[in-house]
Amino acid sequence: MQSLSVKQKMFRVIGHRGAAGHAPENTLASFQKGLEFGADMLELDIHMSKDGELIVMHDPRLERTTNGSGYIKDYTVKELKQFDAAKKFEVYRGERIPTLQEVFDFAKERATFAIEIKNCPILYPDIEKKLVRLIEKNDLVDNVIVIAFYHPSLKKIKEYNPEITTGILYAAGLVEPWSVAETVGADALHPEYDYTLADIIEAAHQRGYPVHPWTINSAEDMQRWIDYGVDGIASDFPDVLAGIVKNR
Ligand code: G3P
Ligand code: CA
Repeated sequence: MQSLSVKQKMFRVIGHRGAAGHAPENTLASFQKGLEFGADMLELDIHMSKDGELIVMHDPRLERTTNGSGYIKDYTVKELKQFDAAKKFEVYRGERIPTLQEVFDFAKERATFAIEIKNCPILYPDIEKKLVRLIEKNDLVDNVIVIAFYHPSLKKIKEYNPEITTGILYAAGLVEPWSVAETVGADALHPEYDYTLADIIEAAHQRGYPVHPWTINSAEDMQRWIDYGVDGIASDFPDVLAGIVKNR
């Protein structure tokens, strides 16, 4: 691994939800696979429990990925720990839903993090403050990119700590995504990949914005977007991406 600072310019192999193509997404097993497969950055999604802990899971509800039901926000951490987070992967039965602190403890010496704030502010008022304080407590200010589709959250992150790197998530084809990033003081662009071609990537670079598209899972598309000049790719298959990057 070259560096654990996100301020360093390098191509990033971003393990999407860990290595979601190989292990139950957003679990420690998935983050372990991501690391084994060459990810230098782990992407994950956060929510908040009833007792105010930051919880790593994609959906606000438990049904799709666990054997529980209902909203994360209606359970304490202790209650959430009773659920099996490996619903779709028999071989990983028994995996638990991790807290963000547990993921930091597990991987912070080995990778950087792209932390996506989910469902804010509808479900979790001021989740941003809690996240910033946890990043600071773990001494990870230089090692994370905070990303969100709800861009005012990123503005709040910068208000709480201007040194934390942020990136705007967007799914539609924005013509000038850097102008959106500018309004919230974000540092990077995280587009759904298929709308973001070479011309936009070049224009973003001219304005100083790195571009980290998601979620590219075929080797052919990985190669195509690498050729377009992206600065990293989020993939459920970081092993495939790491292989391509290594042989460039
Ligand atoms: O890395 C960004 C990407 O994860 C956003 O979409 O739905 O997978 O969280 P989603
Ligand atoms: Ca995500």
